[in-house]
Amino acid sequence: MTTKKAAIIGSPVAHSRSPLIHGHWLKQHGIDGDYARIDVPADGFNDFIRDFHAQGFTGGNVTLPHKVNAYNACDRLTDGAKAIGAVNTIWFEDGLLCGDNTDGVGYVADLDDAFPGWSDATRNMIVLGAGGAARGILFALHARGLKNITLVNRTRARAEAVASPYPSVTVTDWQGMALSEADLIINTTSLGMKGQPPLDISLDALKPSCIVSDIIYVPTETDFLRAARQRGLRTRNGLGMLLHQAVPGFARWFGVTPRVTPELRAMIEADIGA
Ligand code: ATR
Repeated sequence: MTTKKAAIIGSPVAHSRSPLIHGHWLKQHGIDGDYARIDVPADGFNDFIRDFHAQGFTGGNVTLPHKVNAYNACDRLTDGAKAIGAVNTIWFEDGLLCGDNTDGVGYVADLDDAFPGWSDATRNMIVLGAGGAARGILFALHARGLKNITLVNRTRARAEAVASPYPSVTVTDWQGMALSEADLIINTTSLGMKGQPPLDISLDALKPSCIVSDIIYVPTETDFLRAARQRGLRTRNGLGMLLHQAVPGFARWFGVTPRVTPELRAMIEADIGA
């Protein structure tokens, strides 16, 4: 039997934890497979992808700076990828290059894990930031039937562009956020990431039942999450989103749907140095 091969494609890729995640699942399921890191320079994606299938790869993940390049290169796209305009998971079907974006569904799946039933109790949501991650999360929340979203971003025009496909999403500025009504608040900005300034907003008005989440996982607890935890609020970092976004790709390339277990989470936390 030939070894099934997948890879993470980006630049840089040395820091990526995807090989650890997929390597863990390959071992756990006893699959004869391999998940490599491939550094492809910013202007090299189209040349690289042309031979990808012929080199024996069944697919892979795509990260910066190639998520939009991959979107443009795909012959087939999922609805999610179309809505987001970027691709993080690729595979082949009938020889055609197919693409999906699993970040948003990974985010929602992680909340399902952490807080079962959370979506039944969620009416109003605030999303901070308007980059690719915010697009994915907006798409996935909508797919879950959660529509009452306020989008806030430093560059308002960017938020308006992200919100435009969704009539129920409103855009406001940092001062205009109705924090007291929020059931879920999500930081998708880079504020709070290692080496970046913290996200500094007052959490005074949040109700005790509000879930506070941050898609950042390095550090594992941002100042924003710490402040929320210290107020007794439920918090969630971005580690689960990272783990859950990997599930659909593994299932497509290797034919087994893997599970996100406490063991896997602990392994990645140890790697981060938490
Ligand atoms: P990603 O695709 O990973 O979501 P991105 O496209 O670089 O990342 O988006 C980063 C987000 O962090 C954006 O919403 C950005 O705001 P702008 O659209 O105004 O650039 C936000 N961000 C980054 N630095 C910020 C800062 N110092 N203050 C406020 N927002 C910031």
